[in-house]
Amino acid sequence: MCGIVGYIGKRNISKVLLESLQRLEYRGYDSSGIATLDNNDLYLCRETGCLENLAATLAEYPVKGNVGIGHTRWATHGEPSKVNAHPHTDCENNLVLVHNGIIENYAELRNKLKKNNHKFRSNTDSEIIVHIIEDYLKKGAKNLEEAVICTLMDLKGAYAIAALNKNEPEKMVAAKNGSSLILGIGKNEIFVASDASAVIPYTRQIVFLEDYQIAIIEQGKFNVINLNGNNVAYNVSLVDWDIDSAQKDGYAHFMLKEIHAQPKMLKKILSEKFNSDNFSLKLSEFSKIKKYSADINQIVIQACGTSFHAGMVGKFIFEYFVNLHTDIEISSEIKYKHFIYSKKSLIISITQSGETADTLIALRQLRRKGLRTISLCNVVGSTIARESDAVFYIHAGPEIGVASTKAYTAQLFALYSIGIFLGTLKRIIKKSLKSSLIKELTFIPSLMHKVLASEQQIAACAKKYAKYNDFFYLARGINYANALEGALKLKEVAYVHASAYPAGEIKHGPITLVCKELICVCIVTESSTYEKMLFNLEEIKARHGRVIAIATEGNQEIKNYADDVIYIPYVQEIFSPLLVALPLQIFAYYVALARGCNVDKPRNLAKSVTVE
Ligand code: G6P
Repeated sequence: MCGIVGYIGKRNISKVLLESLQRLEYRGYDSSGIATLDNNDLYLCRETGCLENLAATLAEYPVKGNVGIGHTRWATHGEPSKVNAHPHTDCENNLVLVHNGIIENYAELRNKLKKNNHKFRSNTDSEIIVHIIEDYLKKGAKNLEEAVICTLMDLKGAYAIAALNKNEPEKMVAAKNGSSLILGIGKNEIFVASDASAVIPYTRQIVFLEDYQIAIIEQGKFNVINLNGNNVAYNVSLVDWDIDSAQKDGYAHFMLKEIHAQPKMLKKILSEKFNSDNFSLKLSEFSKIKKYSADINQIVIQACGTSFHAGMVGKFIFEYFVNLHTDIEISSEIKYKHFIYSKKSLIISITQSGETADTLIALRQLRRKGLRTISLCNVVGSTIARESDAVFYIHAGPEIGVASTKAYTAQLFALYSIGIFLGTLKRIIKKSLKSSLIKELTFIPSLMHKVLASEQQIAACAKKYAKYNDFFYLARGINYANALEGALKLKEVAYVHASAYPAGEIKHGPITLVCKELICVCIVTESSTYEKMLFNLEEIKARHGRVIAIATEGNQEIKNYADDVIYIPYVQEIFSPLLVALPLQIFAYYVALARGCNVDKPRNLAKSVTVE
């Protein structure tokens, strides 16, 4: 999984490629590189680590040209190193290529190429592509596009590629299957990128390429062809996203900025989905959901990572508000399951990026089975948004920090809205209840402000426990999803081991680990399981475990059970995940800071995982 870019035009080539890559760094930052053509001269520059390293090398060894490609890598095949960094070249250094995706039959193709005396410099699957193109050109393909088409026929797997040929110096060829790829159409200039966010500062005119389409791009013009070499029609879409929010606005990290953005974000979402004067739903927002859900008898949510945790809360919401059996599936597991869902199931895919390969592949599989699909996406125009029967945008705005924070609460908010809508549609929720639920949601932003006001207290608590290496996150009921999310945040940004359990489960095994070196973050807010949680806290204390309790404001009793207490305001149990999420995010952020971790770009991670 990686980000790729390309450019043909008159701008400063390394500046435009670097800037575009910067906006794709969320896809990986193990290494980066660019290649440019200046007439028949090929320039290549690659570095390990973040783009700053590449920028520094480029400042010392500048490149020239009006045509170029670039890459930012998240290592799959081959360790993160300079030789494995893209772009890759053929044996003779005439061709150069960047690739995002995974070539599944690469071992077989590599062996075949080796027998034909191809010399490989890297351990990547990507390098084989440029050698196959080389082969086809040698065998008589009349130009780069013809050689690329032949090459695509040999590849199995997912890819988005962009390639240059020294002998056709005014041209770039780009193609895709499975991985996303767009063209940005400017005035006398054309951009190529893994997604539109990379090119928005230059142009908002975007062509979303389809699978097996090949774009041939020359100075100021392009055409799109299919595998038969015939021209195909394409649409130019206008994207109107706001990119101003891609600044830190005085916060030390994007993660902290995004944590603080949540109340304002939810206020805005509220005004988009609900009428504030009478606490009703804006039905136009839900018309697509209505179309696909009139006769459903079951909901199946599929997602990965943080989005999966939002889906777990979704299961509670749909079962409680809509009285519909709801399953929650990890996307990467769906492919291998014996599927028993009926045609009356509604599939809800939850994904911030809309590009996660596991989620996308599961979606495609479920659609092939004839199931109807709705996606909850943040990134407008993303692949999953486009490939679902209907999309419900969560409107979190751009999320830059790799660890998801505001997209999580926006996903929860979307699930509450849909739950209230479907519950009303199915007559489970009466009119008066509907208004009171919506009213309660309208209080959430101000309650979130109250949680954020405790930031310094949570930070002090995080600093106190930052040196410990083992954490349990415990909760019951709807907040078990938040326990998982809190543990995930700690692992992601602070590189600390954390396991989450439904609190009742610890006595069935994990309790052997409880000792004074184990920190238990326990969600003990006012709920139907509060008393039971207290029993679990007793069990931990009896074994000298340390407890950080997240409890409801005003609860003095909890101090007898916990070493430290973080208070949040009261909200009814069903909505509590929206508030509980915040102290967990803040806690992980400050533990990471105390441990000197790169909060916005944690090691080995990428924001959008476009490989299976
Ligand atoms: C990656 C990210 C996670 C994210 C997951 C799912 O693993 O590091 O933060 O939750 O992908 O991403 P999605 O875009 O599908 O929500």
